Amino acid sequence: MAEAALPAGRGWLRRKPIEAAEGQDAGAGRTLRKSLSWPHLVALGVGAIVGTGIYTLIGQGADRAGPAVILSFAIAGVVCACAALAYAEMATLIPASGSAYTYTYAAIGETLAWIVGWSLILEYTVVCSTVAVGWSGYAAGFLRSAGVALPAALTAGPLDGGLVNLPAVLITLVVAGVLAAGTRESATINFLLVLVKIAALAVFVAIALPHFQIKNFQPFMPYGFVSHDDHGVQRGVMGAAALIFFAFYGFDAVSTAAEEAKNPGRDLTIGIVGSMLACTLLYMLIAAAALGALRFDLFAKSGEPLALVLRSLGQDRAAQAIAAAAVVALPTVILAFMFGQSRIFFVMARDGLLPRGLAAVNSRTGTPVAMTLVTGVVVAVVAGVFRLGQIAEVANSGTLAAFVAVSASLLVLRVRDPDRPRVFRTPLAWVVAPLAIAGCLYLFASLAPLTQKAFLIWNALGVVVYLLYGRRSSALAKA
Ligand code: ALA
Repeated sequence: MAEAALPAGRGWLRRKPIEAAEGQDAGAGRTLRKSLSWPHLVALGVGAIVGTGIYTLIGQGADRAGPAVILSFAIAGVVCACAALAYAEMATLIPASGSAYTYTYAAIGETLAWIVGWSLILEYTVVCSTVAVGWSGYAAGFLRSAGVALPAALTAGPLDGGLVNLPAVLITLVVAGVLAAGTRESATINFLLVLVKIAALAVFVAIALPHFQIKNFQPFMPYGFVSHDDHGVQRGVMGAAALIFFAFYGFDAVSTAAEEAKNPGRDLTIGIVGSMLACTLLYMLIAAAALGALRFDLFAKSGEPLALVLRSLGQDRAAQAIAAAAVVALPTVILAFMFGQSRIFFVMARDGLLPRGLAAVNSRTGTPVAMTLVTGVVVAVVAGVFRLGQIAEVANSGTLAAFVAVSASLLVLRVRDPDRPRVFRTPLAWVVAPLAIAGCLYLFASLAPLTQKAFLIWNALGVVVYLLYGRRSSALAKA
């Protein structure tokens, strides 16, 4: 029982017992129906994963690595697949909301869990802004092809040479409003939008691939392998990998559905690894098609690179269709992450680490309205002001921290609690988890120094908040 479980560990390392983490979600009569099989899980994963990363950041990735951005996709994909396997074990071992924050709280302790939760708040907020900026690029291109040209100053923030990124601000506020009104993603709509996104990408490959020219791949690695600063841009295969890592995450969506899987051991493995593998192969194919059809420097700086490649091939209608698909489907990625943000806030407030009032649920809509709207405004400001690459990197830094924590939590619990039944066991855990940790640390080291500093400052601020508030008001301090 949750009430009976006493905190484990002491002081800085006090931990939430696994039973308590599980118990909080298992209210009376709240057993989820086991209705999902692996095709559903793959759709769920692909739905949350495919977004601005492949639609837009592919251009900036090519700018950083040249044609070798294909290698960057492979590297980021392997690191994410390892982290995804660790997530699967932790999600089935502790099927409670809060994701990496909750796992770390149970495995390692409150202080680190706080830092992970604080990093997740950064990640989820900035992911929403990044996807909104990516959406804006396609929305502006779509409007232009329909004869409505928005002034350039209103489609880029002041840190990107404009005044404000207005479409990005608007889409963020719309999604926040929809979420505050109590709308959740429905499985059917998600499935349809996954089809739209994938169909558009498949059409892209089908059109672009026949125009493949090997000369566009030479030289293959013009900026080398290791990430290095080149006039304010992190170039090299690893500089690009640290950026397009963004394209791969969102699979926590699959691990949070653990309780609903019919046969978790098999379905989760196929669902998580399947959606990662499917995305990695798809991304590499799209990268090959884009890079083969048009020299990378001709689409690298575009806000709608895939549409630009198609236009350069004389396929205006297809370019318009891919822009329409992005405009229709990308907001669901914002919705998924904004929802995740409210979940993390909610769980941290329930644990007493944040003021409970922050996550107060509105009785009419059943959603944390005030917090959702505040999040919406913050996301809108970030989206309206910053440059795409900058904010994608910041989102990545928070995600990398969470991946390291989940992989470390897996190893800690394997040692401390080896006999607890595991619905899903990560295969070769002592290879896979250390590989995920090392890969994430290398990707973090490949980020721009400014991003690393922003991440450290954000977490230093977090530690101050924890010392002033969370440490004393934590539910464990009162247990
Ligand atoms: N992977 C998600 C995207 O690319 C965050 O939009």
